[in-house]
Amino acid sequence: MNHEPPMPGEPRAVGTPRHRAGGEDPSHTLLDSNRFREIMGHYPTGVTVVTAVDRDGAPVGLTANSVTSVSLDPPLVLVCVSEQSASLGAILASGTFAVNILGGGAAETAVRFAGMDREDRFDGIAYTVKEGGGPILEGVLAWIACGLYRTFEAGDHLILVGKVLDGAGAEGDPLLFFRSRYETLDAALTTTRRGVEGR
Ligand SMILES: Cc1cc2nc3c(=O)[nH]c(=O)nc-3n(C[C@H](O)[C@H](O)[C@H](O)COP(=O)(O)O)c2cc1C
Repeated sequence: MNHEPPMPGEPRAVGTPRHRAGGEDPSHTLLDSNRFREIMGHYPTGVTVVTAVDRDGAPVGLTANSVTSVSLDPPLVLVCVSEQSASLGAILASGTFAVNILGGGAAETAVRFAGMDREDRFDGIAYTVKEGGGPILEGVLAWIACGLYRTFEAGDHLILVGKVLDGAGAEGDPLLFFRSRYETLDAALTTTRRGVEGR
């Protein structure tokens, strides 16, 4: 087997000792964070607002697209939240959070909950707080209320695994995030069809 170090940019064979060492050594990567973000931007996601209630009873929330369902029995989801997130403390302290899945018309909400202006995020937004979960924003496409089940440290983020206690979904299309842009399903499908049909 060839264990020579590959040339820069050359893919490394999976399973070689160097490959395994690469996963364990946090400084070992050929990508800087901007390039990593740019590459991962090719993977389209939905968009959510993850919410909780802080010790004073005030709602907090952040836009998040790192949401994935994990297990059906028990029903588990995960979301990766930055250690820098101001909302993280409230999620950990309350031990509950909600995931609000945004509909196609909610790009402004996504922008608002990703912005620096944290004080005004809930201004003019109606919400209800479900027992055992965070605030559910009015008009979202779907929501789940979660109890914090496990946390895992992972680099500069914390992986929060939530046990889903309740939830509901409505009719409608989702908001999508693709290559740093908000998209609607309609627009994305039109672009795809044009590509397929060569128009
Ligand atoms: C589309 C999109 C998805 C995002 N996904 C995440 C995510 O999964 N986890 C995270 O920690 N931040 C994510 N962010 C960044 C946060 O929304 C942003 O840093 C926010 O200001 C954090 O708020 P907080 O510090 O009040 O918690 C995302 C931003 C955008 C625009």
